[in-house]
Amino acid sequence: MYRDLTADIERVLLTEEQIKERVAQIAKKIDEDYRDREGKLVLICILKGSVVFMADLMKAVTIPVDIDFMKVSSYGSGTSSSGNIKILLDLHREDLDECNVVIVEDIIDSGRTLAHLTKYLELRGARSIRTCTLLDKPERREVDFNPDYSGFVIPDEFVVGYGLDYNEAYRELPFVGVLKPCVYGK
Ligand code: IMP
Ligand code: MG
Repeated sequence: MYRDLTADIERVLLTEEQIKERVAQIAKKIDEDYRDREGKLVLICILKGSVVFMADLMKAVTIPVDIDFMKVSSYGSGTSSSGNIKILLDLHREDLDECNVVIVEDIIDSGRTLAHLTKYLELRGARSIRTCTLLDKPERREVDFNPDYSGFVIPDEFVVGYGLDYNEAYRELPFVGVLKPCVYGK
């Protein structure tokens, strides 16, 4: 028997419709910002949490895009960050000097992942770098970092769904919801 994942959700923070509307607005902004730029637009999806956002965003952007994937470890297991960023899947392209990179992230918490990746891609010689996050928890910031595109500012609560997980579960939920604290033992 499969479990009903929605039983673990305290409340829905963002509905499918709200997310869809916001993704369309962000895509429109990206269209406007990159339409007349020299170089190719490359969306880099940070695995695994950003896959759902990435898929919807790349469909909503109307100018041609290349896609790529990176994986980093920032969280161990559970709900707290290790603060230690390791690149687990690297970018295997040699044309970064021709690429206007937009890093696509699910959520910014401490800010360490995106601060680290931005610096890393700068060192790799990317033509330009911007960051795009669906969710932002500014209250949790440990390093000074602000995204160029941001979907929603949310309170300091642990959320799942639309790609975001708790111990690899709940990614498939189509909405963003606050997890019941009893699920992670609080
Ligand atoms: P940062 O490096 O602390 O900004 O962490 C960003 C990463 O932490 C995200 O890509 C998520 O994987 C994870 N994360 C932070 N907050 C949450 C949350 O509320 N739910 C699920 N994952 C989260
Ligand atoms: Mg994650």
